[in-house]
Amino acid sequence: MLTLLRRAVSASRLCPCAAGGTQHYCSSAKKIRIRDALTRLDTGSSIRIQGWVRSVRSQKNHLFLHVSDGSSLQPLQVVANSDLNIRGLTFGCAVDITGSLEKSPSQKQRVELQAQNVEVVGECSPVDFPFKIKERHSLEYIRQFPHLRCRTNAFSSLLRIRSEATAATHSYFRDNGFVQIHTPIITSNDCEGAGELFQVEPSGNEHSLDKENPHFFSVPAYLTVSGQLHLEVMAGAFPAVYTFGPTFRAENSQSRRHLAEFYMVEAEISFIESLEDLMKVMEDLFKASTEHLLSQCAEDVGLFHKFISPGQREKVDLMLKSSFNVISYTEAIDILSRNSEQFTFKTEWGCDLQTEHEKFLVKHCGNVPVFVTDYPYDLKPFYARDNQDQPRHTAAAVDLLVPGVGELCGGSLREERLELLKTRLAQAGLEDTYAWYLQLRQFGSVPHGGFGMGFERYLQCVLGVDNIKDTVPFARSSRSCLL
Ligand code: 4AD
Repeated sequence: MLTLLRRAVSASRLCPCAAGGTQHYCSSAKKIRIRDALTRLDTGSSIRIQGWVRSVRSQKNHLFLHVSDGSSLQPLQVVANSDLNIRGLTFGCAVDITGSLEKSPSQKQRVELQAQNVEVVGECSPVDFPFKIKERHSLEYIRQFPHLRCRTNAFSSLLRIRSEATAATHSYFRDNGFVQIHTPIITSNDCEGAGELFQVEPSGNEHSLDKENPHFFSVPAYLTVSGQLHLEVMAGAFPAVYTFGPTFRAENSQSRRHLAEFYMVEAEISFIESLEDLMKVMEDLFKASTEHLLSQCAEDVGLFHKFISPGQREKVDLMLKSSFNVISYTEAIDILSRNSEQFTFKTEWGCDLQTEHEKFLVKHCGNVPVFVTDYPYDLKPFYARDNQDQPRHTAAAVDLLVPGVGELCGGSLREERLELLKTRLAQAGLEDTYAWYLQLRQFGSVPHGGFGMGFERYLQCVLGVDNIKDTVPFARSSRSCLL
C-alpha cells in the first residue's frame, strides 16, 4: 500500500499541463470541507482540502498532520510520506492537500487523508507565532491577539457557536410568527434615557455649510442604545416583531459583562396585558436556543464545558429542566436585606440592583434563572407601564437574572395610555422630543410589551465564560484598542 502511495505521490506532483513552464500541481479532486470529510462514507475517493496545520508529528517514514479549516473542532488527520520533503510545513502554516480519503487504522479517528500532494500556501514561523503547538493557552492570553485568536481551537469553537446561536435566535422568532425588523443604527433617540450615547457626525468640517445648524442630520444623532422604540412603531401594525443587531453604550466600564458595542435580541409583542406573557417568550427563547446549541454544536460547546468551565454542563441542564423563578422587586429587596452582611452595596427599597445582588438572588433561587418583576417606577425609563400602586409606586418591568452573569434580559409592558405617558414625558421635559411616540398612542394604541436580551451575556451564561470579551469576535470597550 505504502509503495503504491509513494508511486502515486511522485506521479502526481507535476501537472501534465505544465502551464507556462512553471512547476505546479493541478488536481481534479473534489474540494471539500474537513467537516464533510470526517463524516464521508465513501472511503477511497480522491479529495482536496485547504486549511491550517494544527499539529505536525514526524515518524520514521511518515508525517502526521492535523489540519483544520474552521468547519469543525475535530481536525482531519493527514498522513504523508516523509520523503515528500515539504518545505515550510510547521504548526500554523496554511496548506492545500490532495489525497485519498481512507479508513484510519487508528481508533482515534474514523478516516484519514493519505496525501498525494501537500502544498504549503502560507508559511508560519513557529518562533514568532504567539500560539505554541501542544500548549493550551488561556482565554486571557489569546485575547491579546484579536487578529490571530480565531486560529485557536477555543476561539474558533466560540465563533461557530455564536454563528449557530444567531441562527437559533432567528429560527425561534420565525417559528413563532415574529417579523424581523431592521431597526436603524443611527438614531436621534436615547431610548433608555441614561445618556450613554456615542454621537455621530462626519469626521471633517466640510459638511457643515449651514452655520446655523452644524449637525449632519439636522439634529444630534447617536449610535442606537436599543431598537425598542422603532420596534414599538412596528408593534402598531404587527402582532409580534423582533430585531437582532448591534447596540452601543458609552459606559465607562471595564467589567466582565459590559461592552461598548454588543448585540441585542429585542422583541415587541402587541395585545399582551401581563408580564407573564412576556416572561414566557423570554424563557422559551432561552431554552429553545440553548437546546439547539447543545444538539447542533455538541463538540464545540463540549470544549467549553470540559476545559474552560468544568461543571457548566450540569448547570445548563438544570436551567433547561427547571421552570424559571419569579419574584417581585420588593421580595428581592427583602431577601437581600436579610443577607446584607454579604454585600458591598447595601440595599433598600428604591435602589438599583448591583451585580453582586443579582448573582446572590440567582443562587438563592437554586441557581435557576429568576425573573424579578415590578421595579420602582422611578428606576425605570419613561416608556415603562405605571402599575399605579401605593405606597410603593412600581412599573410593570421585568429583568431576567441568570447564573454566572446576573441580568440577561430587561423588559417591560409599555405605557400605552396617552394621558399617563404625556404626563411622564412632560415631567422629564421630553414631550416635544417624543411627539411622534405619543402619536403611536393616539392612533390605534394597544397594550404591548417587549424585552431585550444581551446576546454576549447569553453566550457567557451557556458556555460559562467569565469575561464578555471572550464571546465577541472583536471586543470594543472603553480604553481598549480597536482593530
Ligand atoms: O436592560 P436594557 O438596557 O434594556 C433595553 O435596552 C430595553 N430597551 C430593551 C427592550 O425592552 N427592547 O438592555 C437589555 C440587555 C441587558 O439585560 C443586558 O443583557 C444587555 O442588554 N446589555 C449589555 N450587554 C453587554 N454590554 C453592555 N454594556 C450592556 N448593556 C445592556
